Amino acid sequence: MVIAVDGPAASGKGTIARALAERFGLPHLDTGALYRAVALEALRQGLDLADGAALGRAAAQLDSALLADPELRTAHVAEAASRVSAHPEVRDALLAFQRAFAGQPSGAVLDGRDIGTVIAPEAPVKLFVTASPEERARRRWRELGCPGGEAGLAEVEAGIRARDARDRDRAAAPLRMADDAILLDTTGLDKEAAVQRAVDLVVGRLNPAL
Ligand code: C5P
Repeated sequence: MVIAVDGPAASGKGTIARALAERFGLPHLDTGALYRAVALEALRQGLDLADGAALGRAAAQLDSALLADPELRTAHVAEAASRVSAHPEVRDALLAFQRAFAGQPSGAVLDGRDIGTVIAPEAPVKLFVTASPEERARRRWRELGCPGGEAGLAEVEAGIRARDARDRDRAAAPLRMADDAILLDTTGLDKEAAVQRAVDLVVGRLNPAL
């Protein structure tokens, strides 16, 4: 069983994907972490974020220890990740690993932007998780410890909107809901309610008679 969970930044897709993996006993891959790790490596090496060939080579040689680096979760790495991920060379370098993860006999849960459209288009269950930009910004701002008051919140929202636009408008594997995905809007839902709704949707898709 492969469950594909896609959606924009701070929509709740990571929390939902982790919870589904636990609930159904499946391994989980946060594919955003792969792009963040390439971005972190590129920033450390001083690579030009417009140089797709150099970034593709860095992605092909990615050190998996970077996936546990706390710097991965910072706003500047997120921003760099959305630039790095627009290059087809980078996406190609990470494709085989993600497809192999999705193809393991146990099944898997993967979350990202293009899981249902590119990485695992045959996945029997696809969720597209979203929420209003205002609510996503507020969640991310709270996670960061509410820096800078209302001005800080506006800055986080601008960053999220810019990242959304870049992820949606790029030519290579843009953020898009797969035709057969189920939309889950988490606006106004707390974590528990969003996870419960996701579990119900997965069970409903697997057992349409229930
Ligand atoms: O999900 P997360 O916010 O960690 O992703 C960071 C960035 O990596 C995204 O803004 C997006 O540009 C990129 N990404 C992607 N494809 C994926 C996962 C993430 O392009 N499957």
